[in-house]
Amino acid sequence: MIIRLLYFENLVKAWRVALFGIYGFRNFTTQSFMEHSKKFKEQDMEIRMEGKNCVVTGANSGIGFATAAGLASRGATVRLVCRNQERGEAALSRIKSSTGNPNVFLEICDLSSMSDIKSFASRISSRDEPIHVLVNNAGLVNNDRVITPEGLEMNFAVNSVGTFAMTELMLPSLKKAAPDARVITVSSGGMYSAPLPKDFQSDERNFNGALQYARDKRLQVALTERWAELHGEEGIGFYSMHPGWADTPGVATSLPGFRQRLTGKLRTTEEGADTVIWLALQPKEKLTSGAFYFDRAEAPKHLPLAGTAGSHANIVSLVESLRSLSNL
Ligand SMILES: NC(=O)c1ccc[n+]([C@@H]2O[C@H](COP(=O)([O-])OP(=O)(O)OC[C@H]3O[C@@H](n4cnc5c(N)ncnc54)[C@H](OP(=O)(O)O)[C@@H]3O)[C@@H](O)[C@H]2O)c1
Repeated sequence: MIIRLLYFENLVKAWRVALFGIYGFRNFTTQSFMEHSKKFKEQDMEIRMEGKNCVVTGANSGIGFATAAGLASRGATVRLVCRNQERGEAALSRIKSSTGNPNVFLEICDLSSMSDIKSFASRISSRDEPIHVLVNNAGLVNNDRVITPEGLEMNFAVNSVGTFAMTELMLPSLKKAAPDARVITVSSGGMYSAPLPKDFQSDERNFNGALQYARDKRLQVALTERWAELHGEEGIGFYSMHPGWADTPGVATSLPGFRQRLTGKLRTTEEGADTVIWLALQPKEKLTSGAFYFDRAEAPKHLPLAGTAGSHANIVSLVESLRSLSNL
């Protein structure tokens, strides 16, 4: 009986991954970006951001770097949140010189560490500065099960707990920018392949980095929905999004086989960052708080026949676990 159940469970998992793969090949490549961009409006990206304070996590590389550069080029004050001083400084100097914007700053913070996130939040709060845009971009797929010094599995620590804690701790500064404040969380189409589980950290025996990542990314979408419900009246908009499949250092390191199979089909980092920047620029009346976006449009949170839709009900208890895990 147990063997039959396990077999069925694995069959369902494989079915969801297959559905996601088929949908992804049709929609997430650079060719589909070109196709979807026929509907884009040039003027949507012509909005300036002088006087707006933005925080971008994981800004030294890939989609985060392209996002930070795109916001800085439109005149925003941008704080690059990076875990490594050297990589952060290199990104800072490239962005300053390519955009000519002097208001770009580096903040060192490891998103897998609650104590780092708390010190970053207290630095921001001591400056009493409103945050107009928080981009939760930092993320990773770690194929090995690594435990952080604070006792959390690494994918879960950065993608889930880090995103949760960063957003919760930025709420007071976001409220100062209301009604124009927004939180944009860079999730992934990978979340289509997993429902939201009831509890989170996978044990050593059953560890699967890709599945953990998909669950973390599903959590980001469900959290965005929940934050929109809880903070709807406070002038903060919450949006999650998928960048498409982009050729980034993260993909090269963690998914080399996938990258090789998609040679010539992956998006550029600028194409990956396009919807993040679009979400940062649009008047909020145009956007739906709690929604999931892809290629400048609202996108479904579940694929037909994937059986993931009911799982978002678990978010209420998961938020409580995240709060206690992050000691907030
Ligand atoms: N590329 C894609 O096809 C794709 C598809 C769907 C979703 N995404 C999402 O897009 C986001 C950006 O990924 P990417 O593809 O641009 O990969 P990337 O080039 O590896 O960028 C990830 C960024 O996150 C940072 N980061 C990782 N762990 C961190 C930590 N503990 N503390 C602080 N920063 C940390 C990295 O810093 P280091 O350089 O120091 O490692 C890097 O700056 C991720 O959330 C990813 O899940 C990407």
